[in-house]
Amino acid sequence: MPSIKFFPIIREVLNDLVDSVSASKGLSREEIYERMIAHIKDNSIQWASGKKPVIAYDNVLCRMAYLYEIVPANANLLQNVITYDSEIREYMLGVNEAKGEVSICVFGAGPGTELLALAKWADWNRLDGGLSVNFLLLDKVNEWIDSWEAIKHRIRSNFRDNISKNKRDWPIDFEGSFYVIDICDTTNFGNVNNLFGQDLCILSYVVSEKF
Ligand SMILES: C[S@@+](CC[C@H](N)C(=O)[O-])C[C@H]1O[C@@H](n2cnc3c(N)ncnc32)[C@H](O)[C@@H]1O
Repeated sequence: MPSIKFFPIIREVLNDLVDSVSASKGLSREEIYERMIAHIKDNSIQWASGKKPVIAYDNVLCRMAYLYEIVPANANLLQNVITYDSEIREYMLGVNEAKGEVSICVFGAGPGTELLALAKWADWNRLDGGLSVNFLLLDKVNEWIDSWEAIKHRIRSNFRDNISKNKRDWPIDFEGSFYVIDICDTTNFGNVNNLFGQDLCILSYVVSEKF
């Protein structure tokens, strides 16, 4: 039985964040929820403004608002791409079979949306031998690493509890390297190891934040 579901995983990640923000900032749960809702409203205004949006990703409450409001929807979108675009899916699975691993660069990686999507797809479409993904994560906001690690931890504990203690039985094996860079400045690209040797690149809702 597949066990990866977007909302329960994000709920667990958010609950941990609410506890730590509550302890570090001395805010009640209700105050945290109110501030998250204020960010959701502000962000929606920014995204609909028709201008380059200004989103306070450096603020933990804004990142929490993003996790709550956007991540399941965007993860669902990518899961649909893999499910319904046979060209991309067969290419990815062909590389996985030929090399034993697919390298994927995510431009504007954010909190781990793409990891969540691929983990769910792999869990619901168990491949013989499993899928192995090496993510190269590019984002200008260093703090997203915490969310990526939290989502990774939740996916792994889910597999451990519901499939097996042995990683080799899991439907997806994954690693990620995070680079804090401005992807609009191509002079940074030379510092990123093997950026041009990736099997796939994903740009999901990042170009629309630039133009
Ligand atoms: C709308 S989020 C998309 C995140 C993720 N791909 C998703 O679908 O949920 C845009 C991401 O791009 C990042 N970003 C925006 N401008 C950037 C830039 N110039 N360089 C690197 N990252 C950038 C933001 O920090 C944020 O994580």
